Parts: sequence; structure tokens; C-alpha cells
Amino acid sequence: MTAYSLGKLLYEGKAKRVHATDQPDLVAVEYKDDATAFNALKKAQLAGKGRLNCQISALLFEALAQAGIPTHYLGLGQGNHAGNWMLARPVRVIPVEVVIRNVAAGSLCKQLPVEPGTPLDPPLLDLYYKDDAYGDPLLTDARLQRLGLVTPDQRRQLEQQARAVNGVLVSLFDSVDLRLVDFKIELGLAADQQMVVADEISPDTCRLWDGAAGDSQDRILDKDRFRQDLGGVVEAYGEVLKRLQGVCPEPRVYG
Ligand code: TMP
Ligand code: ASP
Repeated sequence: MTAYSLGKLLYEGKAKRVHATDQPDLVAVEYKDDATAFNALKKAQLAGKGRLNCQISALLFEALAQAGIPTHYLGLGQGNHAGNWMLARPVRVIPVEVVIRNVAAGSLCKQLPVEPGTPLDPPLLDLYYKDDAYGDPLLTDARLQRLGLVTPDQRRQLEQQARAVNGVLVSLFDSVDLRLVDFKIELGLAADQQMVVADEISPDTCRLWDGAAGDSQDRILDKDRFRQDLGGVVEAYGEVLKRLQGVCPEPRVYG
């Protein structure tokens, strides 16, 4: 039994489905086992990934809420929605992917002469236009303005919120000996125009290195295991969840 009934499918992305419910201020987010990389050029089904990302996201959204950072998260699903479903406030997602980099890795090192593993202090903040058809290109200030995706005020708020998220997540992951190398978040506007952290925060959208594993590729506990064909993807995500569960309170269950 759930405290809501499902309505129509509002949106299907590469890793999630968002369903309407019988309540206008509630959507149900279903995390899928599909894994994609390189704008979906590479695809696989990884059994259990949806549940792990859902549970990890719930713990991280709770930690953000605890720190006073608003998110769309309202609680985990229960009954036949236990595991890979969460309930959320409906938001209009701003089509800008906000990436914060604490350590150089990934596209930064492909595009600029920066050695992988270089600490970035202050952390680098990059904005990308969220549109697969264009390959999520890096935005400049001028391009952002040209597209009119956010007002100057919203732009400031978006950066402020992303840096606050980074602060909370860096210390949380640090407390379980994981280094938050970089991550991507999406922000949305709720019905009352409040800007909230939306989408998911999981090893699909973060780079996490195990502090205890030295410099070898064993330290990689995120989607780079899939991107680089390292194997053990679901096991790595499981390790991230296990460590977070060791220090975080149980996430709310909706209803
Ligand atoms: P990048 O190094 O490929 O630019 O990725 C930076 C961070 O953003 C990394 O933690 C992975 C995450 N990310 C996503 O969540 N979705 C994406 O589509 C891309 C390209 C990166
Ligand atoms: N999320 C993107 C994709 O699914 C890119 C990536 O994460 O590498 O293709």
C-alpha cells in the first residue's frame, strides 16, 4: 500500500523515470538499473544499481536538508515502491548541469593541461547546457546569457547553492574516507519558485576515490568503473552506500 497512486509518466531519462501521482505536489521517481556513458554511446543493465543510487541519493539529500540546503526529496518509497523509488516535490529543472571539481579528473584533464589528481583550491565550478542533442556543451557567461536559462540572480543563487552542497558533501564523504573528486548537480524551481537541488546525487554523478586504496584504479568507487570497463561497478556503489549508512541516520520513508 502506498500513500499515493501513480499517474502518468512525466519524463524518462537515461537512469530514471519520473511519474505523476494523484497529488499535484508529489512526483514518484523510479531509479533504473540502466547505465549509460558518453552520451549513451555505451549502455548496460547493472542489476541493483537503481536501488543503490536511490538509497545513496536519499542519504545525501537528507544530509543536505540537515544543513539547510533545500532539495526536492520527500522520502523513500515503501511497499512495492521500496528500494528504488523516492518521492519528491515536482520542480522545473533548470537545464544547466552544475559541476564542481575538487580534484582534477575526467573531461578537465582531457581539455586542459592539468594533471589528473591535482587538488583544485578553490574548487572549480563549470556549467554545462543540459541537452543530449548538443552533447551537454560547456557554457560561457555569454552563452548562458544568450540562452536566457537563468536570471543573473538565479545564476548567483545556483552557484552559491552548488558550493554549499560541495561543502556538505566533501565533509560527509571525508568522514567515511572517500574523496569527493567532482560531482554534477541539477537545480530546479519548485512551485513557489524556491530553488532546490533536484535529480540525483550518486556514484553515477560523482567521482569518489577510496582514501585507503592508494593511487591504483582500485580506489575508483563511481561510474568511472563503468566508463573505463574496470568491472565491479555495483560492488563499488554498494561500498559507498555501506559507508554512508555507517554515519548517516536512516532516510525518511514517505507516507
Ligand atoms: P566530466 O569530468 O566528464 O566533466 O564529469 C564531471 C562530473 O560530472 C563527474 O563527477 C561525472 C558527472 N557527470 C554527470 O553526472 N553527468 C554527465 O553527463 C557528465 C558528462 C558528467
Ligand atoms: N551521463 C552521461 C551519459 O549517460 C555521460 C556520463 O556520465 O559519462 O551518457
